[in-house]
Amino acid sequence: MSNQDKLTVQALQWHGDTLQVLDQRKLPDVITYDHYKTAPGVADAIKTMRVRGAPAIGIAAGYGVALSVKQHFPNNPQTWQALVNEDIKLLAASRPTAVNLFWALDLMQKKIAKLDNNPVAVIDQLAIQIHQDDIAANQKMGELGADLLDGVQSVMTHCNAGALATGGYGTALGVIRSAVQRGLQTVYAGETRPWLQGARLTAWELAQDGISVSLIADSAAAYLMKSGKIDWVIVGADRIAANGDVANKIGTYSLAVLARQHNVKFMVAAPTSTIDWQINNGSEIVIEQRHPDELLPDCYLQDDSLVSAWNPVFDVTPAELISAIVTERGVVLNPCEQGLEILKR
Ligand code: MRU
Repeated sequence: MSNQDKLTVQALQWHGDTLQVLDQRKLPDVITYDHYKTAPGVADAIKTMRVRGAPAIGIAAGYGVALSVKQHFPNNPQTWQALVNEDIKLLAASRPTAVNLFWALDLMQKKIAKLDNNPVAVIDQLAIQIHQDDIAANQKMGELGADLLDGVQSVMTHCNAGALATGGYGTALGVIRSAVQRGLQTVYAGETRPWLQGARLTAWELAQDGISVSLIADSAAAYLMKSGKIDWVIVGADRIAANGDVANKIGTYSLAVLARQHNVKFMVAAPTSTIDWQINNGSEIVIEQRHPDELLPDCYLQDDSLVSAWNPVFDVTPAELISAIVTERGVVLNPCEQGLEILKR
């Protein structure tokens, strides 16, 4: 049995010539899958957030490149690399913040540059490897993160950093899954406006695994912490700068500020593919702005409406507010003081 077969919820399944994507826009009401046979199709699935979550976006992009090679190599043996590079550009333009997208495309591009003949099987294998490695990294992080939660009764998470956002098992939810096996009692999830990743996805995903979860309005987090009900906040990441600043779903930064105020610890769980060694700090991270209609009720959508919306979907939490960054290569406590150098290879 492969790692993947052991997982309950799977956002992405590879069928050799098709990428099957669970449509996360419709969860939890409708469980429906879309099937993609081309890279532009996969780029659209990422852009429209049928698939979302930093590691899952990277994995989907890898399979998108595999589909592109399958399409172009047999028909254009002389020019296939240029055609695949066009598809890679399209995939890279699908969303800006999650660095796993660019990391996976870079791996693919470097491999392609070395291949002249019969690239299909090699590129397929690389895409599958990226997926399998992510699952293994999550399981490792689950254990390392749970080690930090020894004796902890209650935690909170934000957005969805679970199986749905990764190859499987999850980053923040992987830590929570492992900690529940060791006795963690209570999980709170913020609903995560405006797209409701917490209410729609995290709550559903945990329930699929028989883990009970208490949903809170995002605005209830301060009161929850003041009431002494949680010991740790545990989140994932979309991009981590070399100094330990972390971009994650909008609202993460406010949770980190609240956690500091209330003496609650703050954990970021992310694979090293989420670390962007090229940037020194979080101010260099591009924050995606999404369409105002994700926020605005229909009645404000007319052209002459006086009501508009500002909809940044990520924010940056400074390293000094983070108690621990958990990766598959190890844990950095107080990243602001330690730096991330020990994670470098
Ligand atoms: O806009 P989304 O849903 O793609 O944002 C996802 C997040 O912010 C997650 O917390 C992050 O990608 C970590 S997922 C393991």
